[in-house]
Amino acid sequence: TYVVTEACIKCKYMDCVEVCPVDCFYEGDNMVVINPNECIDCGVCEPECPAEAILPDTESGLEKWLELNASLSATWPNITVKGATPPDADEHKGEEGKFDKYFT
Ligand code: SF4
Ligand code: F3S
Repeated sequence: TYVVTEACIKCKYMDCVEVCPVDCFYEGDNMVVINPNECIDCGVCEPECPAEAILPDTESGLEKWLELNASLSATWPNITVKGATPPDADEHKGEEGKFDKYFT
């Protein structure tokens, strides 16, 4: 599966959601996540993200994010259409420590 990571928080560009062939993105206030049970590992979303927030779970150190994608996608609503990007998204691009600062 692919995993949405910390870089998405407060950026939420949503370019990823429209390209997914199985519509497996789920939307929170500050970020989106992928349902790992639905993702077919096609990889087309990864290069679409301007924040480089999407990674394959074969990369090391993503255990926490894989768990969060799994648990949050079970409660958040499905999203298939790109909405309005937050006006300050570019200011949060590449920012460190976003999970601790903003995650709710
Ligand atoms: Fe969707 Fe493919 Fe990205 Fe998985 S890898 S979330 S199936 S676009
Ligand atoms: Fe987030 Fe990137 Fe998608 S910032 S909403 S993973 S395009």
